[in-house]
Amino acid sequence: MVTASKALDRVLVLEMVRVTEAAAIAASKLVGRGDEKAADAAAVEAMRIAFNGLEFDGTVVIGEGERDEAPMLYIGEKVGNAQGTGPKIDIALDPLEGTTLTAKAWPNALAVLAIAEEGGLLNAPDVYMDKLAIGPGYEAGLVGLDRTPTENINALAKAKGVKPNEIIACVLDRPRHEALIAELRATGCGIMLIPDGDVAGVIAVTDPDTTIDIYMGSGGAPEGVLAAAALACVGGQFQGKLLFRNEDEKARARKWGVTDLDRIYQLQDLVKGDAIFAATGVTDGSLLAGVKRRKGCMTTESVVMRASSGTVRWVKGEHKIV
Ligand code: FBP
Repeated sequence: MVTASKALDRVLVLEMVRVTEAAAIAASKLVGRGDEKAADAAAVEAMRIAFNGLEFDGTVVIGEGERDEAPMLYIGEKVGNAQGTGPKIDIALDPLEGTTLTAKAWPNALAVLAIAEEGGLLNAPDVYMDKLAIGPGYEAGLVGLDRTPTENINALAKAKGVKPNEIIACVLDRPRHEALIAELRATGCGIMLIPDGDVAGVIAVTDPDTTIDIYMGSGGAPEGVLAAAALACVGGQFQGKLLFRNEDEKARARKWGVTDLDRIYQLQDLVKGDAIFAATGVTDGSLLAGVKRRKGCMTTESVVMRASSGTVRWVKGEHKIV
């Protein structure tokens, strides 16, 4: 059981929804316009303004990149209007998770963030992470990144009481996953190949309605921490292992304090103690409906969850267009 954080108590849970709503509404104006960068920039700016209206002493630990490459919401940027006086909060954010999905008006683009007490979120470098996730209700350690995909599918099928060919795995559709996909096909399981958006892909394992049983494969490490924060709230198992393509990426990881480059991170290594996860849909998806324009107003759908209480709130917003 995670103990409730007093610092997070003072940051109203619902305020986090205002922040993701602001980013989603801004990005939604660029859905289907074929311009990833413009959509991302709009979401980033709106999220930053929303954060700076809040009474807390926030630090971005997972953000838009390093200071020299990201003008706003860079790693280390201070946000919130109570610097030095308000509760100290670490923030992982992705104002637009699914820039290409947004540019192409494809499903599952989200505005997303997670907050924790200072030191509560792994400061993940911007490298790939091998990810493995299953939903709640299974024995701890049932699957693991130290086992083959075949072993994991067989173990999960046995625990679920079904045959391997009744399991559905979710995997990012990438050439680098060719061998993984071939091995999964050999087990007989179904594969949902997604074009982008592995935060929604990982969270999907926690919702039986999605029919996804397991998430496998590599994606961004920052997105891994965000997805882990959601699973810390709703239950489920997550493991992540940083992947390095060159010495430069290893050096970047060391700079962020990673000492063991081969470590398999468990959920509690990525997200420690109490945490809040919030997301608003930009385009319609498995988790949330996207922003809709109606006569005189816009509607949003969001979710906000807290690790210490396990509370999950679904928030529908109606925003007047003024
Ligand atoms: P962006 O929103 O930054 O475009 O990220 C989308 C995404 O699909 C993530 O969900 C995922 O973790 C990552 O990209 C995978 O990276 P790559 O496209 O290099 O395989």
